Amino acid sequence: MYQKSDLQIKSMERNISNIVLVGFMGTGKTSVGIKLAETLGMNFIDTDDIIEKDCKMSISDIFALYGEEHFRDLESAVVEKVCNLNRYVIATGGGIVKREMNVKRLKATGMMFCLSASPEIILQRTSGYNHRPLLQVENPISHIKRMLNERQPFYACADYSIDTSDLNVDQVVEKIISIFSLYKARNI
Ligand code: S3P
Repeated sequence: MYQKSDLQIKSMERNISNIVLVGFMGTGKTSVGIKLAETLGMNFIDTDDIIEKDCKMSISDIFALYGEEHFRDLESAVVEKVCNLNRYVIATGGGIVKREMNVKRLKATGMMFCLSASPEIILQRTSGYNHRPLLQVENPISHIKRMLNERQPFYACADYSIDTSDLNVDQVVEKIISIFSLYKARNI
């Protein structure tokens, strides 16, 4: 298990023209990312969308046919590709942080925000959808709690964390913009 202190990235080596959104499923990465990009006049991409388009297959089918490790390999390949972008908001799949190299690359590519939410809110926001294979289980709440626990040290590697449990999309976007603007002003 890696930690924030393992991710030594010199500020000179960081491209701060992009914003990277990480966080557990149902924390709002895609909806916030779209609105954020629109508000800042930036482009938007979602690593899950790229995988589905490249493979011409849904994520559920990739998991079912080839398993999670294969999906993680595809995800890492997409991370390598998106590292060369400029002025993009990059939303990522909830498990992208499981690989240290992904986090290292993504942090070098942009400012990383982690969106979080309580297990109950995550359940509320994700139930009713069946496109997330890891949540198609008997007792999703205990599964969510366990995965959140396991991934917590990885999510803690982000530059900033925002709890979206009680916030709407516009409020999260506003918070990110105020932090990002301050950071850019200090680093130009
Ligand atoms: C996953 C999250 C999903 C998707 C895949 C695995 C995870 O993305 O990448 O189902 O491991 O947390 P979202 O976080 O966008 O739902």
